[in-house]
This record gives sequence, C-alpha cells and structure tokens, in this order.
Amino acid sequence: MAESMKGLKRTHRCTELSAANIGETVTVMGWVQKNRNKGGIVFLDLRDRSGILQIVFEGEEQAELIEKAARLRSEFVIAVVGKVEARSGAVNENLATGQIEIRAEELRVLSEAETPPFPIEENIKTKEELRLKYRYLDLRRPDLQRNLMMRSKVTTLTRQFLAEEGFLEIETPILGKSTPEGARDYLVPSRIHPGSFYGLPQSPQLFKQLLMCSGYDRYFQIAKCFRDEDLRADRQPEFTQIDMELSFVDVDDVIDVNERYLAKVFKEVLDVDVQLPIRRMTWQEAMDRFGSDKPDLRFGMELVNVTEVVKDSEFAVFKGAIENGGTVRGINAKGQGQMPRKKIDKLVSFVKDYGAKGLAYIAISPDNTIKSSFAKFMTEEEMAALVKAMDGEAGDLLLFAADKNKVVWDSLGALRLELAKQMELLDKNEYNFVWITEFPLLEWSDEQGRFLAMHHPFTMPMEEDLERIDTDPGSVRAKAYDIVLNGNEIGGGSIRIYQNEIQEKMFEVLGFTKEQAHEQFGFLLDAFKYGVPPHAGLAYGLDRLVMLMAKEDSIRDVMAFPKIKDASCLMTEAPGLVDEKQMKELGLQNRSVEE
Ligand code: AMO
Ligand code: AMP
Repeated sequence: MAESMKGLKRTHRCTELSAANIGETVTVMGWVQKNRNKGGIVFLDLRDRSGILQIVFEGEEQAELIEKAARLRSEFVIAVVGKVEARSGAVNENLATGQIEIRAEELRVLSEAETPPFPIEENIKTKEELRLKYRYLDLRRPDLQRNLMMRSKVTTLTRQFLAEEGFLEIETPILGKSTPEGARDYLVPSRIHPGSFYGLPQSPQLFKQLLMCSGYDRYFQIAKCFRDEDLRADRQPEFTQIDMELSFVDVDDVIDVNERYLAKVFKEVLDVDVQLPIRRMTWQEAMDRFGSDKPDLRFGMELVNVTEVVKDSEFAVFKGAIENGGTVRGINAKGQGQMPRKKIDKLVSFVKDYGAKGLAYIAISPDNTIKSSFAKFMTEEEMAALVKAMDGEAGDLLLFAADKNKVVWDSLGALRLELAKQMELLDKNEYNFVWITEFPLLEWSDEQGRFLAMHHPFTMPMEEDLERIDTDPGSVRAKAYDIVLNGNEIGGGSIRIYQNEIQEKMFEVLGFTKEQAHEQFGFLLDAFKYGVPPHAGLAYGLDRLVMLMAKEDSIRDVMAFPKIKDASCLMTEAPGLVDEKQMKELGLQNRSVEE
C-alpha cells in the first residue's frame, strides 16, 4: 500500500549529503537500489538522480521499522527520515557518499514496484529494443541520467553564453511550408484547408534569415528539426539544433564567436581546454588527405595520390581508371603487413559498399618480401616506386583504390576509419576539432540530372569564383563552413546570399524557373527588396555534440525518447493509425488500409 508523504519534505538529494552533515536529521526520497537484510539490521542503497546513499535500519527499539525495511524491494519509492552518521562499517571509496550513512528513524513506502525487465544499473548488456520499450526505466540508469544532465548543462551554458554575446532567443514556427530542397519533409495535414499540408521545419533557415531582415541582428534558438531521411547512429528524424544567425559579419566573425562558445562549453562541462584558434582546412585538402569532408584528425593514415606514379603501368585497373579521368590513391596501414588474406578480403568487400570495384594491396613482410594482388601486372621498378611513394616499410600494408575521385575518396575515407577502429587508434578522451571551409557550392545529382545545393540554396558563392557560375558551376566554391569533431560533423553554416540577383542566379543554376522560385521562396526574395543586412549563421547538431562529449557511440544515448531505425517509437508505438473520424475531418483516405 502506498503511503502519503504528508508532513515530510525532502531536505537533500542523496549525494548532497557528506561528512559535513554528520549529526543532522534529514529527509531523503528516492528509489531502492539494493536491500541487504543481515538479520536484525538492514542496509539499504537509496538512489536518486544524484547518486546513491546508504541507509541503515538498526536497533532493538526499531523492530517494526526494520521489519518494514526488510520487505522493501528494488525500485520501491520511499521516504526516509534519519540522522546522518559516520559509516559504522568500511568507508566506500566508490561512492560520493561513502563516508556516511543515514540511521533511519522513519520509513514510508510511497510506491511499490514490480520487478523491472532489466536491472537499473550502468553498462547493462540488455538489448536496446527492450530498453527503448521501457525507456522510462532505462532513463533511471545512472549512465543515461548523467548524459541527460550533461545535455541540460550544455543547453544552459549555450543560453548563457549567447545571451552574453548579444544573441536574442526567438522561436520560429513548427507548422511551416514544405520546401522540397534537402531531405524529405514531414507533413501535417490541414483540417481547415483540406488537401493542404504544413511541412515541419528541417531547420529554421528561412525564418532566421527573415529575422535578420527584421533587424534582430543576432538570433539563436535551441530548435527542434525534422527530417524524413534514413536513420543512422548519428541521425534521428527529429533532432535538436543550436541554431544561430548574425548580421553584418563575415566568416571570421562567425568562427570567432563559435570558437569561444565551444571553448567555454568544453571547459565548463568536461574541463577540457580547446586550443584556439581551431585549425581550418579547405574542403579540397580534407578530401585529398583524408577522403572525407569530416576528417577524423586524431590519427594519420592519410591518402596518397599515386596517379602519377602508376600512370604508365600495364595494370588494367589503374590504367582504366586513369583513362576515365579518375585517380589512383592509397593508404598505408602501418604494421598491418601480416594481415591474414581473409581479413584483407573483408576490407575488399567493405570498400565495395562505398562503390569501389575492388581494393588492390601490397603486403610487405617483416623481411621485406612483397605479396601483392597486382604485382604480376607491374614491373619491379614500378612496384618499388609505388612502395616508395607510399612510404612503405617492412611490415606495412598498402591499399589502393582506382576510380573516379568521388568513389576513391568515399571508399578510402571509410576504409581509413575502419582500419583505425581495428587498430584501436581512436581515443575518446581526445577532442580534435577542425573547421572545413570552401565547400563546393553545388553537387551534381545523377539521379535528378541537375545540380543541387551542397549546403542550401541561400549560401553565398565565393566572390572570386562567381564569374564561373554559368560556364563551370561545379567548380564554384561556397562561403560555407562545417565544424568537425573527431570525424563527426557537429555543425555547419554559411555566409548567405543577400543580393537578389545572385539569389535568382542560384535558383536558375539549381534548375528552378522564376515562377517556381517565387512560389517557394517568394517571401524571402520580397523581404530582400526592403533592405537586408549581410548575414551569416551556423547550426550545431546538439545531439551529436553531446554524444561526443558523453563519449557515446549513438545520439540515441543522449536523447530522452529516441526513435529506432524505422523511425518508430517502441514505447508509444508511434506512428499509429488514427480513427476514421479524424481522417475524414482532414479529408484523408488511407488507401493502404483499404486495399
Ligand atoms: P545542416 O543541415 O548542416 O545545416 O544541419 C546542422 C547540423 O545539424 C545536425 N544534423 C542532425 N543531427 C541529428 N539527426 C539528423 N537527422 C541531423 N541532420 C543534421 C548536424 C549538422 O551539422 N540551416 C542550416 C545551418 C545554417 O546554415 O545555419 C542547417 O540546417 O550536426
Ligand atoms: P582483377 O584483375 O580484377 O583480379 O583485380 C586485381 C586486383 O585489383 C584485385 O586485388 C582487386 O581487388 C583489385 N581491384 C579491382 N578493381 C579495383 C579498383 N577499382 N581499385 C583498386 N583495386 C581494384
């Protein structure tokens, strides 16, 4: 039977108590972690979000109390009134409250509990599906509680810092207009306008630009964003951005305020010093050296372009790729020359997922003999030149891909990370930041047969490249920047176009007719006619930032109620069918159900 807490008031969280409180009478409330009945004396671990506190029930005159305590089971919610004392037994160095215990004088059972489907403890091996179905229990576990508390600390510091820097927190609508650029939108049917839909925002991009037109100067928002795209460990259908926009600034101003922001957050949350300024690398350099626009700089294993070295060889794979305008590049997996053939074959099939047709290798044994999948097509001099170009030494494994640049970068970039994992080169305690700058403005889509904006259609081209926008649009670089941490894109932004001529040109290159552009973005183009400041901005993925700070591998572990891969929620079972009446009101018919 549940008892009332009437007349009691919690005085402390568990770990707010210490030796300094010895002698005080306190009231604590929380969940029973563990209960040990030693016959006549009961030791109980009480848990709340701050941690664990030991309670003792003991004493001849306390028989009833001890009996009641002995009946407590894990996860019962209780209130205890008692006196803080020095531990009678051994001091527990592992607990924040290890020097003290509470000698109970009163116990109330506020709520009983069934046995949970998995233990409420750190580092459990329970399947994630079960944890997510009972997320409210999962969220009781100390590791998740620490993550969410860290997340809250990050958002609090964010608000504090940005407010001090003159940013205003302004909310923008969730019910907006669907725009087909970028990822797929989530749609909400309108009841009042049957057949019409709101689109949920993929980001507050257009609204924050309009706020600059309205003179708010510096805006920020901790904004929910929605994108209907394939989910991965670092992607959820709804996620949170720390979103900002600034007027009268250029790239260096945006980078400066954000570097100071990151330094503050990492110092105050993790006591980590971020070395400022954070290094900057152009997109081109990142691709050439690491095969990725979000390079992990915690380790080397850089890509080497060996096209020149092998261009005259007879190896059809290399020759063919070069003739088709591609390149040959390699990476040197130091000390992996003894890798068994089977494991190398696994790497070959690994890169095939990234579009590579194969992976050519040279394994150098400790006594300097060479095993290679393509030696027979090469002269000895050519092989020696290739090994030299790769800095190959006894015991190394050299791996090569030959193809169009994009395929070579994608596959070797991914391979580099895979090898780093296998070779245990990734240290979660190291935080390696880099700004990636000068992204291409546009990206060709074979599927759509047109250029797409690499960042978004409002990103400013680099002035010096603008003259090529008609003749060679693919070569135009953008004033866009991403902030990358340990191989994760934690944020990105750009200088915006604020001249209507350039914006209209951009829409033209993207294949919009004037009418289409005006239909979709007319309000922005109109707003620009009434006086628009030069402006720029950036948005962080809050979930990704906190994931890395908490040293987790998935953003699900830093979100309270995440969705699984198929975008459903195992606990609420969203999305779900709605009843006929609701459908009718919205003018909708569920064809898949009727068929
Ligand atoms: P972008 O699309 O790069 O830029 O998004 C900004 C950051 O949001 C995070 N992110 C995600 N996190 C979790 N799940 C997702 N599905 C997801 N998609 C993106 C990433 C990314 O760097 N409006 C622009 C910003 C600007 O130009 O100011 C924008 O949305 O960490
Ligand atoms: P093959 O002549 O097809 O047997 O290929 C010889 C070697 O080249 C094998 O190790 C293949 O994995 C490798 N290979 C095939 N295509 C490529 C490619 N595009 N880039 C690099 N290596 C490749």
